Amino acid sequence: MANSPIRQSRAVRRIVRGQAVSDGAGVKLNRIIGQRDFDMLDPFLMLDEFRSDRAGDYLAGFPDHPHRGFETVTYMLAGRMRHADNQGNQGLLGPGSVQWMTAGRGIVHSEMPEQEDGLMWGFQLWVNLPARDKMTAPRYQDIAAESIPLVEPAAGISLRVIAGRFGDVHGPVNGIATDPLYLDLSLAAGMAIDIPLAADHNAFAYVYDGSVMIGPSSQSRDVARGELAVLDRGEHVQVSAGRAGGRLILVAGKPLAEPVAKHGPFVMNTPEQIVEAIRDFQSGRF
Ligand code: CO
Repeated sequence: MANSPIRQSRAVRRIVRGQAVSDGAGVKLNRIIGQRDFDMLDPFLMLDEFRSDRAGDYLAGFPDHPHRGFETVTYMLAGRMRHADNQGNQGLLGPGSVQWMTAGRGIVHSEMPEQEDGLMWGFQLWVNLPARDKMTAPRYQDIAAESIPLVEPAAGISLRVIAGRFGDVHGPVNGIATDPLYLDLSLAAGMAIDIPLAADHNAFAYVYDGSVMIGPSSQSRDVARGELAVLDRGEHVQVSAGRAGGRLILVAGKPLAEPVAKHGPFVMNTPEQIVEAIRDFQSGRF
């Protein structure tokens, strides 16, 4: 038996392009996870990118709506969004900030642009909760841009650690059941980086600017702006920049391998729990 550990480099299993959708009160979005061609990547239920400098695409925002049974993670690249819920919590998300909201047993909230012009750009990711936590008390982690560590392993490479860790740098988000990694990575042309990942976690990379190559050199794939790469299992992933550099989010989490019953903003384990969620919402019990 060989003693030396084999460190499997993750290859790209599949490349997914988003679909243009409209959600909330008519906000235009690119939906990458949670669409017909790509239903989910356990524990990730949805990934939307919103990016527009036309106020008409985002002004209507997301007026009061419920969530139960999962977490919503909003990461802003540009623009400002105000959040308020039915339990008196509110906050303003600015450029570079993140909100990790554990909806648990239920909240009703609004997410509205705090601007009437200019670029609004960011992501919302939905992360499932394990059965034992679906009815937990709601929890917010509102994290200002300056509280997210920036690591620069070499000139031309920078990454922001939102959740999980890179080397000994830990992201500010804590206590999440699926033990997530959420990195925002920026590579100048010609730069490459190798990022460790938990071997049994599902992972994806979504390129939001430029292009990159992902995977071991023998089977690396080009991934362009607007494309999501689903990664095979393995201990690390190699990413190198395309000709004009590349920016991406790299996200990983522990799969729950539990039944998923999904109905709009309610994500539970059984159809009966969905009926209960609708009833609780309609009778004002959120
Ligand atoms: Co919401």
